[in-house]
Amino acid sequence: MSFVVAIDGPAGTGKGTVTSLISKELGLVNIDTGATYRCVALYMIQNQIKLEEKEKIIASLPAIHIDMKNENGEQIVFLNGKEVTKEIRSKEVTQIVSQVSSIKEVRFAMVEVQRKLAEGKDVIMEGRDITTYVFPNADVKIYLDGDENERARRRFKEMQEKGINMTYEEVLKNIQARDKNDKEKEVGALKIAEDAIYIDTTHLTVEEEKEKVKEIIKEKRGK
Ligand code: DC
Repeated sequence: MSFVVAIDGPAGTGKGTVTSLISKELGLVNIDTGATYRCVALYMIQNQIKLEEKEKIIASLPAIHIDMKNENGEQIVFLNGKEVTKEIRSKEVTQIVSQVSSIKEVRFAMVEVQRKLAEGKDVIMEGRDITTYVFPNADVKIYLDGDENERARRRFKEMQEKGINMTYEEVLKNIQARDKNDKEKEVGALKIAEDAIYIDTTHLTVEEEKEKVKEIIKEKRGK
């Protein structure tokens, strides 16, 4: 029997950071579901497919093969056999990914990929619709939230550390646009599941947030 920890929330709530740390500490396989949508967005950029060309995007789905590996707790992402872990975090991908992930057909295909990646494993999985749609019966369901200015500040710092050239205003605007788009999706919209544990991360350090989430998991898992 596999054990599933599902974590949802908007950008900049520390989902990625906390999930990666806990995956190492508790020996759970880390699956960042946003990376699957980022791979589709990267494929579109590589093949000069525009957001308006919805039919082309849908037609290209069978040609998109995504794989993920955990190496020392870090997630390595492959698109059609080539490692793209860094490329999928670029400004260009970040700017179109929310809209790409709004396409119903893209979601159905990616949810299938995500469920397959989790098959038979003890996983910690983060995204926008994991607690509500991908794994509504997950063993642990958590919703991470936070003030948008604080979330933008965290993301801005992260972008700077990675050498990605975006101003704070650009990051804040991107977060606001993605929040709106993610919450209004026809399928898989970002929402708080009724039985999810809600955590406001605005005033929490990464360490405090990680410990809170870890305690919840350990209590349920019994180890
Ligand atoms: O978590 P992230 O920033 O890497 O996610 C990229 C985009 O993908 C985000 O704007 C919303 C979308 N996404 C989604 O719709 N469903 C998921 N389960 C994960 C991400």
